[in-house]
Amino acid sequence: MTTTGDDLAAAPGEPVRRLEAHRRELTGFCYRMLGSAFEAEDAVQETLVRAWRAYDRFEGRSSLRSWLYRIASNVCFDALEGRRRRARPVDLSPAGSVDAELVWRPGDTWVEPIPDARVVPAGAGPEDAALARESIRLAFVAALQHLPPRQRAVLLLREVLRWRAAEVAELLGTTVVSVNSLLQRARATLAAQDLRSGELHDPADARQQALLRTLLPRLALNLAGAPPVRLQELFVDVDDVRLEIGFGGGEHLVAEAERNPRTGFIGCEPFLNGMAKALALIEERGLANIRLHHGDAAELIAWLPSAALVRVDLIYPDPWPKRRHWKRRFIQDANIAELARILAPGGEFRFVTDVADYAAWTLRHFARAPQFSWTAESADDWRRPWPGFSGTRYEAKARRAGRSPCYLIFRRTPAP
Ligand SMILES: C[S@@+](CC[C@H](N)C(=O)[O-])C[C@H]1O[C@@H](n2cnc3c(N)ncnc32)[C@H](O)[C@@H]1O
Repeated sequence: MTTTGDDLAAAPGEPVRRLEAHRRELTGFCYRMLGSAFEAEDAVQETLVRAWRAYDRFEGRSSLRSWLYRIASNVCFDALEGRRRRARPVDLSPAGSVDAELVWRPGDTWVEPIPDARVVPAGAGPEDAALARESIRLAFVAALQHLPPRQRAVLLLREVLRWRAAEVAELLGTTVVSVNSLLQRARATLAAQDLRSGELHDPADARQQALLRTLLPRLALNLAGAPPVRLQELFVDVDDVRLEIGFGGGEHLVAEAERNPRTGFIGCEPFLNGMAKALALIEERGLANIRLHHGDAAELIAWLPSAALVRVDLIYPDPWPKRRHWKRRFIQDANIAELARILAPGGEFRFVTDVADYAAWTLRHFARAPQFSWTAESADDWRRPWPGFSGTRYEAKARRAGRSPCYLIFRRTPAP
């Protein structure tokens, strides 16, 4: 999508306010259509910009809301059409076996979570909010991705947004009969999906599936409630607490938890396959000092109390190599401020990447953050892994490809 939306931001006034009022629900719709929070944001921006440009020609024959949904549907259809050209945080690799290296799967199996706050309409009653939440469950959104775009749109409009068949027919420029037939086919396809395992790519691994149903609920943090005053209380008997963001298959998280039994570890990972692998490792090793968040790091970090952690690790984050995607990198000033908030003075943020540009980006961002100091004293401090670093699949992959990783440690300075 090429529209930046600068012209929208620069255009104050009533039309913009009226259009903006629909941003959140449109984000929910586009997210369910596209299965990606980032793409949904782009699609909504594109929708609002198109609507703003055509606002003079909006004749009020339908409600503004229906008109916006029609534009959003078309934007999503276009985006789905151009999926093959879609940007990804890392290169695609061919699929492997359960025990093989963790890889990204192509196209419609790629589903990212989205925080509730970005899609659940403000002021929604408890029932509507519950429905909105249920319908952005990863498994549901993943299952939706099995439907052709028009079936997907019909199912969402009819069953999630509860539109009448005639309204949907008008929106899609088709007949009620055709809408009903699309809906029937969509339901049949969904019924054939196992919604609980909708996004797990290897449904043959019954053990991992069972762990997702039984162990994950026990280890998952309850972000709907307040965190304990002392984060150690989340664990049985630990002295301090660490966080690992985007742990992939969990090998580093599990190795660290095993080596440091008196430290509690919070692991965060939205990719269900990775979560399933980590659960299998946790069970195998009988670890009792790990809690998990299956979702986005931002929502977990926002929930964590201030000065609660002694260390945060971000190991081989998605590099987002293209300039126009840099805004999607985890390292941003706002996230650094949040890391400063949740780390105790003297605590450390550890970062590893094999992408030279991301290393330079990270150094530049931390250089202007007065709450942190970079601990390196010699080149070896960033060229070599810190003592005890156990590596990950991405580390092995980088080394096999001849890329030299960078190991950066930033210390939280005492509060200014
Ligand atoms: C390139 S992989 C590296 C995985 C692992 N750290 C390793 O080295 O094997 C990046 C990981 O970050 C996770 N990730 C991406 N966006 C995230 C987010 N917003 N919050 C938490 N994790 C995220 C991805 O699901 C993926 O597992």
